[in-house]
Amino acid sequence: MITYNEQKRIFKLDTANTTYMIGIIDSESFIGHIYYGKRLKEADASYLLRTEEPPFVPSKNNRERCAFYDCFPFEYPVGGMGDYRESCLSIRTAGGHAGAMLSYVFHEIMPGKPRLEGLPATFGTEEECETLKLVCEDKYVGMQVELIYTTFHDTDVITRSARIINAGQEPFYLTKVYSACIDMDNRDFDMISLHGSWARERHIQRKTLGYGIQNVSSFRGESSHQDHPFLALVGKNTTQEHGEVYAMNFVYSGNFRAQAEVSQFDHVRMSMGIHPENFCWKLESGESFQAPEVVMVYTDKGLDAMTGAFHKLYKKHLIRGKYKDKKRPILINNWEATYFDFNSEKLLAIAKEASGLGIEMLVMDDGWFGKRNNDDCALGDWQVNEDKINGGLKKLVDEVNKIGMKFGIWFEPEMISPDSELYRQHPDWAIAIPGRPITESRQQYVLDLSRKEVMDHVYNMVASVLKSANIEYVKWDMNRQLSDLGSACLPADRQGELYHRYVLAVYEMQERLIHDFPDLLLENCSGGGARFDPGMLYFSPQIWCSDDTDAKERLEIQEGTALLYPLSTMGAHVSDCPNHITGRMTPFETRGIVALAGTFGYELDVTKILEEDKKQIPEQVAMYHKYNDLIREGDYYRIASYSANHRFDCWQLVSEDKKESLVTYVQVLGSPNFKSRCILLKGLDEDLHYEVDFVQNTEAEFKIYSGDTLMKAGLLIQNPSGDFQARLVHLTAVD
Ligand code: DGJ
Repeated sequence: MITYNEQKRIFKLDTANTTYMIGIIDSESFIGHIYYGKRLKEADASYLLRTEEPPFVPSKNNRERCAFYDCFPFEYPVGGMGDYRESCLSIRTAGGHAGAMLSYVFHEIMPGKPRLEGLPATFGTEEECETLKLVCEDKYVGMQVELIYTTFHDTDVITRSARIINAGQEPFYLTKVYSACIDMDNRDFDMISLHGSWARERHIQRKTLGYGIQNVSSFRGESSHQDHPFLALVGKNTTQEHGEVYAMNFVYSGNFRAQAEVSQFDHVRMSMGIHPENFCWKLESGESFQAPEVVMVYTDKGLDAMTGAFHKLYKKHLIRGKYKDKKRPILINNWEATYFDFNSEKLLAIAKEASGLGIEMLVMDDGWFGKRNNDDCALGDWQVNEDKINGGLKKLVDEVNKIGMKFGIWFEPEMISPDSELYRQHPDWAIAIPGRPITESRQQYVLDLSRKEVMDHVYNMVASVLKSANIEYVKWDMNRQLSDLGSACLPADRQGELYHRYVLAVYEMQERLIHDFPDLLLENCSGGGARFDPGMLYFSPQIWCSDDTDAKERLEIQEGTALLYPLSTMGAHVSDCPNHITGRMTPFETRGIVALAGTFGYELDVTKILEEDKKQIPEQVAMYHKYNDLIREGDYYRIASYSANHRFDCWQLVSEDKKESLVTYVQVLGSPNFKSRCILLKGLDEDLHYEVDFVQNTEAEFKIYSGDTLMKAGLLIQNPSGDFQARLVHLTAVD
């Protein structure tokens, strides 16, 4: 899959349908990007580097060196020497200087994929993937840079990262380290990105790519509600089914920048990495810095194919643990049921009722510890509040288990309330700028996890709670963004490392957690979905998608999330109406069908809801058990998007063998005088016939149609009457 043509000095990286080509040129061994796109048969496309036309190869005509730098398609551009597009790497030497330029030194091609130290990353065996390590240097600075590329055999994905090594004697500072870059010609691209807010995460935005720099980014200390570490450049005519897509997604959960810059020559530089704002990393002689991984996807088959490549990679080569390929227990979480106002009796009443309906796990959310009866205190005091949990945690968990349910618990380990015993004992443990009042958010501060003693203390508190009872699930929450960065322990010239050190510490804590409690089901969360990213998926197979559980709002949130992430990862629950965030009423049935497209669970007081809603729970539970394998493992296709058509939403799952499929149709607003809609299905086997079951039809009426007809001519779905109505259609091959 990866070859090197020594004579021509060209690397060719192939996946099943794509080729990525890198060339080394000139006596100075500049590393240039030749090509990324549809798979090429030819091993040499070096003419695309265009070094023979003006402004000339620098060694032939030193007078035009600056012009060369400013238009050469660099594989990993460094700033300060005359390339005026934005660089991937900026440094400051001990003398305060910034310029550097990389030249090729040597390379290694190896089977498999090395781990990235301290960081989450995709993985694969020696049979599943292959890696190129390209080592380059700037001898004036004494810096080596390793560019690391991995191709996967079973999906059209190439991953990239970079490692910077101080190979000299003097320390130097990294002021920007991106992980990946593609320099290419502009093909009249559009740019797709994901944006939102709390309770409105990951809405899809598509716009024309213009001249200059356009980026999406976060320097909130987490990947964020607002923007997402993803960027795609797509052709003007690219649709779900057709057209070119260049996409990047960042396996990282902190500050990021995803950027496209269109230059004076109509070249595009697409790049991704840690956001340089407030970043400065000191490298002593012999030290190295590992940049996180970027996942790159190219396809000429539209957005469905891009989604398919990401889903496959994440399902097979990123998510780990016992629940990776398993059905998750259907849970009921007490947050929207009780908020802080609960005790053992209330929880047990919910558990008893829920268990009788088929729900399998009770999750006790925020409010069980310290004196936390509202959100302004006690974070850090991870001891059970026996005024609420009478007789202690073990007693409660045992009783829940006796009812026949598993038990799960909520933590927010990264935080400290100013009103907490922990803060009173260790006021210097909060991230703060000395002498300045700390900016509060949800009346809480962020713990300085870059300090080992802080991380150890919090981890040990969490672990001792988990050891005290039969706890089988943890919801790990994080409810504020970082601000006023300062660590009481880092020296002045290392304060710029705090953002990244914080993220590394979160990763280390979660790695310890899943190592020490291998049977635990971990669900990450951040005020809903502010840290829904591939970095967190490496530790938890599911992430709470959004605090917004309104079925209609969830359509857009889940569509944007599913653009990149498998449905098995999307935390989705049925909640009560009027919805606590939007005030909207939607049918219980629709709430169930929309939540089925995620991990599925409940977030309501089952002892208080309407009888007619409660009656539907066993049916929904049965549907979950019937369809979850398909939903979790099947190939996902987007059929229609409410955010684009403003009328209805439709998605489909197809099993790998194409013998089973599930179609979800949600009519957002009812239209008068509109009997049925014709839906073109996808991904079926055109030579098979399918029995079509309209799941909600009471009078069983199964019709048989061919896959070919369903995909070319379509399936008629009777338009439901009313707003927010959902339909499920199940197809089974009969040939
Ligand atoms: C934010 C989460 O997203 C909610 O589900 C809930 O756990 C609250 N935090 C608790 O404070």
